Amino acid sequence: MADNPLLESDGLCTYYGTSQALFDVGIKVPSRGGVAILGRNGAGKTTLLKTLAGELAATRGRISFDGTDCTRAAVENRVRRGLGHVPQEHGIFAGMTVKENLLIGAMGNRTGREHIEEVITLFPRLGQRLPQKAGTLSGGERKMLAISRALLGRPHLLMLDEPTEGVWHGVIEEIAVRLEELSREMAVLIVEQHVKLALRVSQYCYVMDRGRIALEGPSDQIRDDPELTRLLAP
Ligand SMILES: Nc1ncnc2c1ncn2[C@@H]1O[C@H](COP(=O)(O)OP(=O)(O)O)[C@@H](O)[C@H]1O
Ligand SMILES: [Mg+2]
Repeated sequence: MADNPLLESDGLCTYYGTSQALFDVGIKVPSRGGVAILGRNGAGKTTLLKTLAGELAATRGRISFDGTDCTRAAVENRVRRGLGHVPQEHGIFAGMTVKENLLIGAMGNRTGREHIEEVITLFPRLGQRLPQKAGTLSGGERKMLAISRALLGRPHLLMLDEPTEGVWHGVIEEIAVRLEELSREMAVLIVEQHVKLALRVSQYCYVMDRGRIALEGPSDQIRDDPELTRLLAP
């Protein structure tokens, strides 16, 4: 792990009302490469990404991004600094076209519009569907649109919450390859139920259990750790 991580959390605690969902979560994400967060349903993965993105407030602990404390920074402020988030429910506007959804991602970024062409080369099938209403896209295409839209914000770190959930298996490989490519140029933090894919796209991995980091290490070591199987068992 790099000495100067792009993103670092330390002692992060998040609550839903009086119910604590994150307990002292510390993670580090280097400025290039993939980091995976694994854990069974309800382990706290989405809560962690939302806290890092600023959608949920951390009650205790701190988050630093690009060398600056951003524990209390607003979502927009984090996005502007380069923190991209593709939420689990993908946040696509179903009644708007693919192109309009992409333009939203390019907002607040002067050169964003010019990058639409570049970004859609990642997922050519989106390029063929620019005038189509986003609500008519398949599950996989919606995920591609959400990833493309986040990339138009020119993030330094792309956080993805289950990018292959509800995606037909034939399309999962396409998304996996793109994520591998992206992680060579930028930081990618990926939450995935698809363990093999997550371990392939990442070099380092954290496994969560009941709101805590229960196991961590290089992905090629965690892959064979019997503790991983135990932590992911239903
Ligand atoms: N909006 C919410 N209000 C109350 N509890 C929540 C809310 N969202 C999630 N939780 C609880 O927080 C815990 C972690 O959930 P989540 O972060 O969604 O897990 P994961 O993404 O790993 O499946 C679970 O116990 C879940 O029930
Ligand atoms: Mg989740």
